[in-house]
Amino acid sequence: MPHHRTLAPPEQRDGRTPVIHAELRRHYDSLYDLMLNGRAARDARPVLDVGTGDGLALTAITQGTPLHGLGIDVAAPGQWLGPPGWSVIQADAQRLPFVDDGFNSALMVDVYEWLRHPAATLSEIARVTDGPILIVQTDWEGLWFQADEAEIGRDLVRAFTKGAPEQLRQRIRSSAEEAGLSVERSSTVSITTDRLEQGGLAWDVLESIRRYLVIESAQVRARRFDDWRSELQRAADEGQFTMLVRRIVALLGSNGG
Ligand SMILES: C[S@@+](CC[C@H](N)C(=O)[O-])C[C@H]1O[C@@H](n2cnc3c(N)ncnc32)[C@H](O)[C@@H]1O
Repeated sequence: MPHHRTLAPPEQRDGRTPVIHAELRRHYDSLYDLMLNGRAARDARPVLDVGTGDGLALTAITQGTPLHGLGIDVAAPGQWLGPPGWSVIQADAQRLPFVDDGFNSALMVDVYEWLRHPAATLSEIARVTDGPILIVQTDWEGLWFQADEAEIGRDLVRAFTKGAPEQLRQRIRSSAEEAGLSVERSSTVSITTDRLEQGGLAWDVLESIRRYLVIESAQVRARRFDDWRSELQRAADEGQFTMLVRRIVALLGSNGG
């Protein structure tokens, strides 16, 4: 399981307060609008958040809104950084312990790449949802670090993203269709940042890469990683740095239309 890949901050800074990267706030706002899909918030709830984890993406999308609902995750619940008042149940998305059409929206952020049977899972989510299903998956193929107008560290990035699904947008579309769902909207969202500062998105993605490649899998020597990072930092200090990451966003409907 690709535990190491996530756009969430690698560690919650004080262990309790949810951290939402500034670079992703507009993206999360647009995900909220998409999930409502023109409905009033009261008609979009209750919401099912599939693979909720610590609830961080759920917080980022629903914070300050009147949405409520329930999160499920196959892993045992740990620390909860999701919105207050939401329940969390341990369950596999492929066999949900809910009646048909009990939710008015469903959400699934950065879980698609973990699914062993994506079409069967989407079909099960559709069974319990009378409304749109919003799928968001970071497309790790599109992770890119640039210094002085050239990509650098491609081999390190590839080692980190190895095993991520290719042709992700097409895959999501195919599994939705196999599940008998319509793809109402599908887009590729590009998120870029030119900042490399502690607490920023690029900093935290680099932390995740370092932790996985240098500490957990020991594929790369610390010195090599740190040289790359220093080069990126120098470029950032000179205003010559960019990190790009893509996310696939798909809104699925169950009317087959
Ligand atoms: C990368 S985390 C994303 C967590 C959260 N959605 C977020 O974006 O902050 C992926 C989560 O999916 C969960 N997961 C993977 N397969 C699952 C399944 N079949 N049913 C339910 N949860 C699953 C994992 O346990 C993990 O917590």
